[in-house]
Amino acid sequence: MKPICVVGVGYVGLITGACFADLGNRVIALDINEERIKNLKKGIMPIYEPGLEELVERNVNAGRLSFTSSYKEALKDIEFVFIAVGTPSGVNGEADMQYVASAATSIAENITSSLIIINKSTVPVGTGDWVADIVKGAMPKPIDFKVVSCPEFLREGSAIVDFMNPHRTVLGSMHREAAEKVAQLYLPLRAPIVLTDLRTAEMIKYASNAFLATKISFINEISDICEVLGADVIEVTAGMGYDKRIGPNFLDAGLGWGGSCFPKDILALAFMAEEKGLNPKILNTVMDVNYGRRKDAVRHIEKMTGGVKGKTIGLLGLAFKPNTDDMRDAPSIDIAKDLIAAGANVRGYDPVAVEFAQALIPSVEMFDDPYTMAKDCDALMVITEWNEFKQLDLEKIKGLLKTPIIFDGRNIYEIEEMERMGFNYRGMGRGFNGK
Ligand code: UGA
Repeated sequence: MKPICVVGVGYVGLITGACFADLGNRVIALDINEERIKNLKKGIMPIYEPGLEELVERNVNAGRLSFTSSYKEALKDIEFVFIAVGTPSGVNGEADMQYVASAATSIAENITSSLIIINKSTVPVGTGDWVADIVKGAMPKPIDFKVVSCPEFLREGSAIVDFMNPHRTVLGSMHREAAEKVAQLYLPLRAPIVLTDLRTAEMIKYASNAFLATKISFINEISDICEVLGADVIEVTAGMGYDKRIGPNFLDAGLGWGGSCFPKDILALAFMAEEKGLNPKILNTVMDVNYGRRKDAVRHIEKMTGGVKGKTIGLLGLAFKPNTDDMRDAPSIDIAKDLIAAGANVRGYDPVAVEFAQALIPSVEMFDDPYTMAKDCDALMVITEWNEFKQLDLEKIKGLLKTPIIFDGRNIYEIEEMERMGFNYRGMGRGFNGK
């Protein structure tokens, strides 16, 4: 089979390229950031993702995966080109499409034979048609091409496993044979394939992320109600989860969602709806509830410490979720800033995100391990549920703290155990604990 080209070696592009190579395809991955390409050629990854370095190394050594910054080289004799560039939030919450536009233009300028352009980036509904117009307009001479939308559903931190074990593959196109050809690439993954039109495929991605974010905001609101009524949200979700219509996943109450996907996608979907004159009430409330969690965390620690002014607070975990160094829209940023504004000295520890965190919250004193950080702190706050925090020597931590106060924003500890050890402990939504 002809090689596959992937444009953009960010999260989605690099994982897509490396995984397709691992499935036996020849893949050429392109990025206009020459530094990134140079590093990748040396085996240096642009992101932290479990298993990625080994996967890339294995496929580069096998001659199936290569990197370039040249469109001319990347598009030579290929049949499929995946666009996997970033679509960050613009000033009003709309998706910023400049990278997709420039990728489409460069593809058009360098196309030599007919090909299928596959959009992997999360893009506003209607982008497939827009990309087709850009390519048509920028091509020096007419060459046949088709556009297919193939949204990606992988999660950071489990990206390779998610890519290799999708719940479904969604393919949208106005040209069924093109979508069917792309489907061939996904057949080895043995997941159901949903063939639909372009706009519907693009909407499936937004609707999926919006639903997941809604699930989290919903359980967070239930968690607050649990607290005032004396119920335990962990047992409530376990009880709910047995109902197959509800399911047990994505119902962990805590500090809510962050990252590079939910925040920008929910905003972009609300923006698209508002632009067409609708009032997306649920989406707006889902965002309000989510960002309220960060304020609540600061209120709780204020109450537990009797005011944080002049106190030293240690943050356990800084990345937006475990197994990633991604700090985009991480709750730790807002929480640290609010604590500092309230007069606290803030310390931080994260297994991998310290470097990125330091650049974003420079007033936070960073530490290399949780014990050194805990020494003489007035309180600790669990912000990210890294596994290593579940295994901490809590007796030792207690001895290091000035006062044994732990606010657990991710409910990783057992209330009875913490109280038995003599901690002033508070989770979220855990009955009357903390009241
Ligand atoms: C999310 C989706 O899960 C992926 O399917 C999608 O492909 C991706 O966005 C994307 O659009 O690119 P990701 O942002 O990597 O993936 O992370 P998730 O594991 O979904 O977590 C998102 C946020 O929700 C995190 O901040 C996490 O802490 C929070 N979360 C998750 C909860 O607060 N409670 C839960 O029960 C689950």
